Amino acid sequence: MAAIIQTQGLTRRYGRQTAVEQLDLEVQEGEIFGFLGPNGAGKTTTILMLLGLTEPSAGSARVLGYDPVRDPLPIKRQVGYLPENVGFYDDLTGRENLRYIADLNGIPEPEATEKIESALRTVGLADEGDKLVGAYSRGMRQRLGIAELLVKDPRLLILDEPTLGLDPDGTNKMLDLIRDLNRSRGITVMLSSHLLDQVQRICHRVGIMIKGRLVALGTIEELARRKGADSGRPVLEEIYMRYFREA
Ligand SMILES: Nc1ncnc2c1ncn2[C@@H]1O[C@H](COP(=O)(O)OP(=O)(O)OP(=O)(O)O)[C@@H](O)[C@H]1O
Ligand SMILES: [Mg+2]
Repeated sequence: MAAIIQTQGLTRRYGRQTAVEQLDLEVQEGEIFGFLGPNGAGKTTTILMLLGLTEPSAGSARVLGYDPVRDPLPIKRQVGYLPENVGFYDDLTGRENLRYIADLNGIPEPEATEKIESALRTVGLADEGDKLVGAYSRGMRQRLGIAELLVKDPRLLILDEPTLGLDPDGTNKMLDLIRDLNRSRGITVMLSSHLLDQVQRICHRVGIMIKGRLVALGTIEELARRKGADSGRPVLEEIYMRYFREA
């Protein structure tokens, strides 16, 4: 498998504080990678550097073969990025918001309409596409956020806390959707979260970041073995707490 994201010594300082320190990370094409860590760990900062939205203080990254510092445009075009706070026009409908994105990306007709309808169906909003986004629930907004990314036909999705603020049902729908996009379309996904059971449910591999440092990287089974967790089904929560106490 080829690396679709790669970082070497990636570092970001804010004044005297180091938000991300010497990060070496690889995300393989085709996987769902869970980027775990408590508040302030440096997850969002890492994501912003991968997208060329923040410059690293040191080190380098490659995303889809491009350097985000020198070549951010092809990355922005080809990566579907769901930010921590998804922004939409509340006074437009879901469909109209997607139409706006399609126009912004220069997608011509009839392709644009096909992509919009297909994206709305995929995220389960086809029947609610004509409601104003201002009247959407948080779960619907998050799913519209994914629909927006799908209009661009991305090979890679980078999702920053995609289930933040969702109730259990909304969370399950979002996780099923992510898994389905990965399985049926082969889209690579990197998602950040501090919710361990969720990550455990759908991610092939995880990285645990604490205070700017990557303290663990591997499959959940590998991490469990390394930490000497009991045999049987490894519980990510337990592993995480062990790393957390040691950090
Ligand atoms: N623009 C900024 N200016 C100054 N400090 C910042 C800035 N952005 C992030 N930081 C600091 O860098 C550290 C990492 O923040 P970051 O947002 O990357 O964490 P996170 O893992 O995404 O946390 P959360 O789970 O709360 O979203 C924090 O201590 C934060 O205060
Ligand atoms: Mg964050």
